Amino acid sequence: MGPVIEARELTHEYPDGTTAVRDVTLAIEAGERVAVVGANGSGKSTLQLVLGGLVEPSAGTVEYFGETTDAEAVRDRLGVLLQDPNDYLFNTTVREDLEYGPAQLGMSRETADRRVAALADELGLRGLLERPPFRLSGGEKQRAALASVLAFDPDVLLLDEPFGAVDAHYRERIRKLVTDHEGTVVLFTPSLDAVPEVAERVVVVGQDGTVVADGSVRDVLTDGSLLTENGLRPPATVRLFEGILDAAELPLTVAAARRRLLREER
Ligand SMILES: Nc1ncnc2c1ncn2[C@@H]1O[C@H](COP(=O)(O)OP(=O)(O)OP(=O)(O)O)[C@@H](O)[C@H]1O
Ligand SMILES: [Mg+2]
Repeated sequence: MGPVIEARELTHEYPDGTTAVRDVTLAIEAGERVAVVGANGSGKSTLQLVLGGLVEPSAGTVEYFGETTDAEAVRDRLGVLLQDPNDYLFNTTVREDLEYGPAQLGMSRETADRRVAALADELGLRGLLERPPFRLSGGEKQRAALASVLAFDPDVLLLDEPFGAVDAHYRERIRKLVTDHEGTVVLFTPSLDAVPEVAERVVVVGQDGTVVADGSVRDVLTDGSLLTENGLRPPATVRLFEGILDAAELPLTVAAARRRLLREER
């Protein structure tokens, strides 16, 4: 199986002359878990919009599933969660927002109801389903927006900051939903703390909108100077053990750091 998304020499310039994405060539393979990281303004969200086929690039092409460059032809296979949940929630009730995608894509009523009910349970939306989306809190909106993307069961998830406004409980629920997803996941984020739990490959975008690094989670997240130069910083556990352990041994998650410490104590 080839790449699910293959971008070639993508550049995107906004009408005011801002070049947000510059000469990006990137292949996302089926089943991969990739984090696209970069400072504020480095072009992550713009890249997400272009890869998701919601914005036409100024130059370059995006091919989907080795089949087509027409994103509309594969709309039902792409789950694009935008950074601002308000862009997602436009129906009269949260329930209608969740049912919208499945209905548009012709999913059977029974399957749609089952999926919506399961997601509402998982993301704590049960009691909010009849509410107008604009009356939700920030974290609730974010959960509702994610549920409306997952509801139609897309193969490829392109998620911009899904953890942004949610509390610890739902952060863990979302992490689990994302890791349990059977297809491909691309996460866009300026914060690296969640990256090791979700991704195996990390793409770093620089302030000029180019890809400045593309490698394994370990290689990228333990490269302090690469991260600092690009307005990022290593996860807390890496900073804690930096200079104490070799790069290959640095714990990327709290669980790994705990294991390491417990081993030392024995
Ligand atoms: N509609 C727009 N018109 C003009 N410039 C824009 C527009 N949207 C974004 N930009 C600019 O494009 C650049 C990239 O923005 P983008 O939102 O893609 O960055 P980002 O990496 O997602 O940032 P953040 O971490 O803050 O979400 C920034 O310089 C931004 O000011
Ligand atoms: Mg963004």
